[in-house]
Amino acid sequence: MVGGDRRLEPAAFVAAVLVAVFLSPAAEAETAAAGASLRPGPFESIFAFGDSFTDTGNSPVAFYGYSPIMRPPYGMTFFHGVPTGRFCNGRLLIDFVAHGLGLPLVPPFFHIGDGPGAYPLPINISLEVQLGWFEEPKPSLCKTDQDCKDFFGKSLFFVGEFGINDYQFSFGKKSMQEIRAFVPDLIETISKGAERLIGHGAKTLVIPGMIPSGCAPPVLVTFANAHASEYDAATGCLKEPNKIAMLHNSLLRYAIHKLRAKHPDVTIIHTDLFNHVTKMVKSPEKFGFKKDLFTIGCGGPGRYHYNLSNVCGDEAATTCEDPSTRLFWDGVHLTEAAYHYIAEDWLNAIVGSLSARASS
Ligand SMILES: *[C@@H]1O[C@H](CO)[C@@H](O)[C@H](O)[C@H]1NC(C)=O
Ligand SMILES: *[C@@H]1O[C@H](CO)[C@@H](O)[C@H](O)[C@H]1NC(C)=O
Repeated sequence: MVGGDRRLEPAAFVAAVLVAVFLSPAAEAETAAAGASLRPGPFESIFAFGDSFTDTGNSPVAFYGYSPIMRPPYGMTFFHGVPTGRFCNGRLLIDFVAHGLGLPLVPPFFHIGDGPGAYPLPINISLEVQLGWFEEPKPSLCKTDQDCKDFFGKSLFFVGEFGINDYQFSFGKKSMQEIRAFVPDLIETISKGAERLIGHGAKTLVIPGMIPSGCAPPVLVTFANAHASEYDAATGCLKEPNKIAMLHNSLLRYAIHKLRAKHPDVTIIHTDLFNHVTKMVKSPEKFGFKKDLFTIGCGGPGRYHYNLSNVCGDEAATTCEDPSTRLFWDGVHLTEAAYHYIAEDWLNAIVGSLSARASS
């Protein structure tokens, strides 16, 4: 971290946190009962570090008092209308990945019932702090160093998404030049975090890239008065924020390249958000999305229905009839439908890397 500037922390504000899943005893019993006929998945657990794109329910605790996401219509599509603390109408990418790998959905690290006072507030959710949450209960997960290495070797680690918040909360407050200048520090933080996990015995890591920030409705609203020349004519997205996301992604790819060279026995999978979202923005009809692509599925009055004083979950907010026709859910976050499309590619990337590892 440079200079103690909170903008330099991945996951500066919104949601984020360590989530972990273990094969529940019930699932183990089922596997045992099914005997050899049930092919065991490649992983026994998932550990995830990240922000609201990854968080399966920590933020209501971490941001106690920020409750809109604990009200309908959050959760309307998959969780029988029950809000789970996910910033989505349904499942997130990580839920689809867990399911595809034969694991239960990833539970949050914090428990919603824990209530105020259970943790000192405000909770700092930087990657550094999240790593601490992972390391502290380690003795309860595994005993000896070898035990731990074996256990984490059979786990899948998500390092991110990180970056969306750092950029989104900086747009309009800092110059593009200032934002550009902190990209390398952010990448360094992610890379060091990944290395710390490798030190604990992680053998498989997924490190997602950035979305095209210039297509995100909150960013488009922040720069509502931008000149026509600042938009990419093919997408309607803002060029400069997208260039920063591209810089982030290319520095991240280079950092991953270096990590792979340094740790040849570790599988590091880089997953894409930028190209997927861009494709959806360019051809919404191919995905069943409506033409007014930047209009969010749930929000208040105003441009693209994005209105900070009337957010999804507020009483006066409105929800579109069919969220599967929308790319964006409540602002920057995507709908379950969008995550579902992207998850197929992520799963292929994960499974493909594992078979490459098995045959090398
Ligand atoms: C959050 O924690 C990190 C790591 O300990 C620290 O560097 C950073 O200054 C903290 N941020 C805030 C806003 O307290
Ligand atoms: C945002 O919502 C508030 C409260 O409902 C409303 O008064 C305001 O006009 C809205 N903003 C825009 C730009 O429509």
